[in-house]
Amino acid sequence: MKQVLPVIEYWRRRIEDHPLHTWLVTNEQGVRPEQKLWFALYFTNFIMYFRELNLYHISYCQERTLDRQREAISAHADEDMTHSRMFMRDLRTLGWDEMLGWRPSELYYWLFLSEVNEPLRRRTTQITKLVIEAEDPVVRFAVVESIEICGNALFRHTNKLANEYTARTGKELIYWGDFHLERETGHAVEDDAFEDAVLTEEQREAARRRAIRIFELIDEQNSDMLRLAQETISQGGFEYRRGIHAAPPTWVPTIPGPEVFDFNFWPDTDAHPSQRVIQQTWRQCRQALRDSEHMGFFTADTLTEARPSCASRCSTAPRTPAARRRSTSTCCRTRSRSTRSSGRSTG
Ligand SMILES: [Fe+2]
Ligand SMILES: [Fe+2]
Repeated sequence: MKQVLPVIEYWRRRIEDHPLHTWLVTNEQGVRPEQKLWFALYFTNFIMYFRELNLYHISYCQERTLDRQREAISAHADEDMTHSRMFMRDLRTLGWDEMLGWRPSELYYWLFLSEVNEPLRRRTTQITKLVIEAEDPVVRFAVVESIEICGNALFRHTNKLANEYTARTGKELIYWGDFHLERETGHAVEDDAFEDAVLTEEQREAARRRAIRIFELIDEQNSDMLRLAQETISQGGFEYRRGIHAAPPTWVPTIPGPEVFDFNFWPDTDAHPSQRVIQQTWRQCRQALRDSEHMGFFTADTLTEARPSCASRCSTAPRTPAARRRSTSTCCRTRSRSTRSSGRSTG
């Protein structure tokens, strides 16, 4: 780990002076401190998902007792999974419910479909993927340590805004102020369970690579949030943006365009030589499934075609399952499916 920590330290210093952080603590005439916190409304899917990220993916759950490292990471996750609710409390304190006043459809659209924060949502998924794939505790430690360093840097800068808000209104902000910061040490674990860990070259490389990627992604998130917050402030709030970014479109194209994924969901290529036997078996199983009569139900265009037996429509078709298995004749249903399904995949 001694070779990994200096890399994380290098990136910690880089993220510290991110323009978002500098902007947050720079007083601007005509801008109230809490308005700068609007950047978080473009990032709510990460803030609110943080509970489940910790609960299901950072914590080792039942396996936490296997060793001290898993227990240390899981103990920290126990704390962090409680932070989303602090954000909820501040949202109410800040009066953002009334400020936005969005309908549920607008909120859902904003959270899951709006193009304005799509890059932020995509990076949230990429961060989650980095956590999930880091099954090895020493690698997961590097990933979580990097996330924690970025969180600590952010909350040290929002703390000034929270204090100014409290001084003016008398209301405390627990997510943006001291209360949260006291629980954000900037580290993934509260002890030295990893400091002296000796990593293999493979573990070192995986830890370094993933830690750097976390910093890159959060650096990009910060830049996007800075731009979006500045645009929102310059437009006097969310009302204008509500209309163009939160309102679901009234017209939706019937045929969606192709979706592009940045990783391969269908692992049917590039199998390692040691895995080719498994790949071949998998292909045979897939073909058998595609050829089975049950799949006709999913590829049929009408309910009539989807009926499990063609006996009612084809006098030459065998009438029992056993007879159908023995039969070598091609019935009308099989013919219609094979001609219809050319060019169509059943997955
Ligand atoms: Fe937190
Ligand atoms: Fe944290």
